Amino acid sequence: MSNALKTGCFALLCCCSLLSLRVPAQKKTIAQKVDSVLHLMTLEEKIGQMNQYNGDWAATGPITSDGDKQDQIRQGQVGSMLNVTGVEHTRQLQEMAMHSRLKIPLLFGQDIIHGYRTTFPIPLAEAASWDIAAIGSSARIAAKEAAAAGVHWTFAPMVDIARDPRWGRVMEGAGEDPYLGSLIAKARVKGFQGKKLGDTDAVMACAKHFAAYGAAIGGRDYNSVDMSLRTLWEIYLPPFKAAADAGAATFMNSFNDLNGIPATGNRYLQREILRGKWKFKGFTVSDWGSVGEMIAHGYVKDKYEAARAAVTAGCDMDMESRSYIKTLRTLVKEGKVPLTLIDDAVRRILTKKFEMGLFDDPFRFCNEERAAAEWNDPDNLQIARRMAEKSIVLLKNENGLLPLSKSTRTIALIGPFIRSVRANLGFWSYEYPDDSSRIVSPWAGIQKKVGGNTTLLYAKGCEILDTSRAGFAEAVAVASRADVVVLNVGEAPDMSGEAKSRSTIRLPGVQEELIKAIQATGKPVVVMINAGRPLIFNWTADHVPAILYTWWLGTTAGDAIADVLFGDYNPSARLPMSFPRTEGQIPIYYNHFSTGRPAKNDQDVNYVSAYTDLPNDPEFPFGFGLSYTSFSYSDISLSTAAFKPGQSLTATVTVTNSGTTDGQETVQLYVRDLVGSVVRPVKELKGFEQIFLKAGESQKVSFTLHAEDLRFYNDKLEYIFEPGEFRLYIGGNSKDVKEKGFILNRE
Ligand code: BGC
Repeated sequence: MSNALKTGCFALLCCCSLLSLRVPAQKKTIAQKVDSVLHLMTLEEKIGQMNQYNGDWAATGPITSDGDKQDQIRQGQVGSMLNVTGVEHTRQLQEMAMHSRLKIPLLFGQDIIHGYRTTFPIPLAEAASWDIAAIGSSARIAAKEAAAAGVHWTFAPMVDIARDPRWGRVMEGAGEDPYLGSLIAKARVKGFQGKKLGDTDAVMACAKHFAAYGAAIGGRDYNSVDMSLRTLWEIYLPPFKAAADAGAATFMNSFNDLNGIPATGNRYLQREILRGKWKFKGFTVSDWGSVGEMIAHGYVKDKYEAARAAVTAGCDMDMESRSYIKTLRTLVKEGKVPLTLIDDAVRRILTKKFEMGLFDDPFRFCNEERAAAEWNDPDNLQIARRMAEKSIVLLKNENGLLPLSKSTRTIALIGPFIRSVRANLGFWSYEYPDDSSRIVSPWAGIQKKVGGNTTLLYAKGCEILDTSRAGFAEAVAVASRADVVVLNVGEAPDMSGEAKSRSTIRLPGVQEELIKAIQATGKPVVVMINAGRPLIFNWTADHVPAILYTWWLGTTAGDAIADVLFGDYNPSARLPMSFPRTEGQIPIYYNHFSTGRPAKNDQDVNYVSAYTDLPNDPEFPFGFGLSYTSFSYSDISLSTAAFKPGQSLTATVTVTNSGTTDGQETVQLYVRDLVGSVVRPVKELKGFEQIFLKAGESQKVSFTLHAEDLRFYNDKLEYIFEPGEFRLYIGGNSKDVKEKGFILNRE
């Protein structure tokens, strides 16, 4: 930092101290410091703090460039910037802020969704690990790498529950379940924020998109959401609550309207729930342009009304819509927006700037040496590789085709992804010029893994979106010369993500045709599917002996894939979302209600709740995933058949590794409340435990339930439990379970 700038900061701090002389400087709380600064600010400067612009390096939404941003920073009219990348650029803009009258530091925000320099598996893939500690570590590494490069704030975690795989943003979340989603939300918030805000390896988390964005009608991004408040509270809000409880510094509202009120202008969500019931003390930011977009929603007439609605509803910072900066001054002067609302919003923003230590040193996060050390820490790559291994789901493995032997004579590596490098990174990843050398393609990972006696053959077969079968003949010829074929297909990284909704979620282009052609050679085929969402690949699921779901696994994808293919890692991941048989089943989720006419089985279609042309259940259920070994479950034993509030019940099963390979099982506990004052889901995940068993080994696994675990929202939105009969299910996925009944008595 230059001396002039240091002097500037010091002057501001002295000034703050002088304003409240009764409080000894060293004992001043952040709240007092914030008030001191607020006291010095003009209305324009206050509004400036509520204004966020995109930088000039990357854009993650429609650019609305208007006026000289840099000049506005110098005028104190910008509180935060997003998408300003790296030490050099953040320093450059922070220096501009240090030329403003009060030298209030800028906050730099960015979408660090699954890693920064080191790309981790996409969040949905990480969710498949069900390994909460590992997910927390992944966020920790991302925070370290980002914080060293000048980033203060990540727009993550995305904690939107999603039941519709057509929605491209399922890749960013933790899937369909509120229980799993809440644990992951907490782990990610804690991971990003580290021990405490203000440490130079911690970034502020931002729980988004508040709320119910994942329920966009028809899976079309930005679309309306229409849902009962019970569903909102029971399914969509819990991960947000978990993020708030974990201390998330900020929340982002969302693009969608919720039951007719845009989330950005939604007072019920932001003031009543978030700040009121949940006592959230951080600040809220709009989504990109979402304040102004309330005009297109037909909720407000112009930017004046938009800003007024958003501020009144509790949206503190305007990302890129320029509504606040253009209108709030007039709105306050005309008495349409009380100054107290502005002061409160600015207080919350300044509080975070103080907590981050930016008033002490606005440049403390820009550090070339730290960035170089963090960015080149080989441990980060190792942790990413472990995370990627844990994220790969084994969907099928007939006759133990996998793992492959490292001394297989000839392996044909085929498909548009097998040699791809950047395609493994997925949406929301960053490109660094020198990064390609760090990214391990499946080809490279496999090459490193096999011994010198193995010959690897290659053919692309087709491009991702090809309609041409011109490459099939070569691929078939290559396959015919091999002992085994590994075929890597899937979605391009820009096919799932923001604004990437798809009405059909099949394997794109002629890729499934390629699989058919290769399968017809009679060679053993392993298919690996890269994607950001559950895809539909029924023919492959029915005919190909081995399938691995490899998502987008990040920088170390190829190493992790090779570890799994050749058995150095025994797959342990479990699906965090149901995989439909066809788009017509969507939305599809395991925790649905029973109807009055439930179908008994797949053949039962007459006057029951069923499709006449396909089963109700998914192709692969929630919680499903295979291992190279097998696990068997004993019958469940209960500590008691009935209990009452204040007491508990313990359910125990013995899980045995009944195969010949050591491996990890995720033992899952589900519960059904058989009769309720409102109907209850057929199953709800209430707990899980990951155990590692050596071949032949057994272990007892116990889950303890209290009345508290059986709470739900009744029709008055009271969070209650009701005495009565329940069923409890334990198994390795949501479908294959053992069950037992129990009773919750009155007190
Ligand atoms: C997305 C947010 C993101 C923001 C900034 C928006 O379009 O919906 O999730 O944080 O852009 O990049």
